[in-house]
Amino acid sequence: MVYSAVNIGLLGFGTVGQGLIEGIRWNKEKLEEQLDEPLIIKKALVRSLEKERYVQGIDLTASPLDILNDPEIDIVVEVMGNEHPTYAYVKQALLSGKHVVTANKLLLAKHGVELEGIARHQGVQLLYEGSVLGGIPILRTIQHGLSGDRVEEIRGILNGTTNYILTQMVESGQSYETALKAAQAAGYAESDPTMDVSGLDTACKLVILCRECFKMNIRIEDVELSGIQDVTLEEIKNKQIEGKVPKLMAQAGIVKSEQPLNDAVKKIEAKVGVEWIGKEDVLSQVTGVDNGLALKTKLVGELFWKGPGAGGLATGGAVLSDVLEVARYVLLSRNQYRSQGQHF
Ligand SMILES: NC(=O)c1ccc[n+]([C@@H]2O[C@H](COP(=O)([O-])OP(=O)(O)OC[C@H]3O[C@@H](n4cnc5c(N)ncnc54)[C@H](OP(=O)(O)O)[C@@H]3O)[C@@H](O)[C@H]2O)c1
Repeated sequence: MVYSAVNIGLLGFGTVGQGLIEGIRWNKEKLEEQLDEPLIIKKALVRSLEKERYVQGIDLTASPLDILNDPEIDIVVEVMGNEHPTYAYVKQALLSGKHVVTANKLLLAKHGVELEGIARHQGVQLLYEGSVLGGIPILRTIQHGLSGDRVEEIRGILNGTTNYILTQMVESGQSYETALKAAQAAGYAESDPTMDVSGLDTACKLVILCRECFKMNIRIEDVELSGIQDVTLEEIKNKQIEGKVPKLMAQAGIVKSEQPLNDAVKKIEAKVGVEWIGKEDVLSQVTGVDNGLALKTKLVGELFWKGPGAGGLATGGAVLSDVLEVARYVLLSRNQYRSQGQHF
């Protein structure tokens, strides 16, 4: 078989999937400069073939096998969300030798260790820049920019929906219920906001960040977890007198617990919950739907990022950066095969 393109199959064609296609179309010339062969979106999996899409011109299918069983598809981009049936699809894609790009924090927090093991065994890539902090390219920065350093502490505002709700309560004096409705009307919150307001979405992202920063695995259940549902306007007014505002904060660090008869054992302490912070805290600058992350590292010291943590274009852009990295790898592998006189 002789290929003349890098073929992509999308699992999901919603907010992020369509944002990815917009990114590819807008940056067509730049992408062509970077790759010797074009990126082709062969098919996108959806639930409903009848639904109106704002991005047109993509071949849609309701059958996952059209993508998973297509030998010409090099990269599967999973942007359908949820744990099931997504886990089975991603696993099947990796086992059949396809590279996978995903933005799915729930999937990665629950099954990331296993899926990365499969990817390593199969010699394929599994990348997930869009899963944490949306448009802020944080995972690549940790993996490459900080590869010679050691992260000692993570503090972050990792969920835009809850940050929007808390900001509305502080700045506009809205009750929790009114601010939640405003977030839903603006498209920032799902009709069922439980995953955001309970802190579970933040905990999933913290699990992924811990893995990247500390090279140690924790489970969602290991994160001490509470949400924003109990924050009241009265409490906000009282704390404002002290110059404090509420933030749903994700925090993690490594602690050494002394074990009898053993050397010190390293363990991660991770928690998600409301913290009241003052203006001196850099994370107080993170308002509205933005996300922010502060890392303390051994060599560089304090680092801080802020920006859009969600949205089709921002997250689609992060997914596209992963797609490009994998596409370069695919083309390099093909060239190596070709130079050995084999067609691939
Ligand atoms: N939205 C963001 O800003 C954002 C930011 C960071 C990360 N993410 C992550 O990105 C992923 C996608 O999010 P999204 O906002 O793009 O979701 P979305 O708008 O709800 O889109 C999901 C897409 O997947 C399809 N789909 C879902 N379940 C399916 C099933 N069982 N079989 C076939 N197709 C199915 C849907 O088909 P239909 O269109 O036919 O319903 C839809 O096209 C999630 O993991 C999310 O956590 C999103």
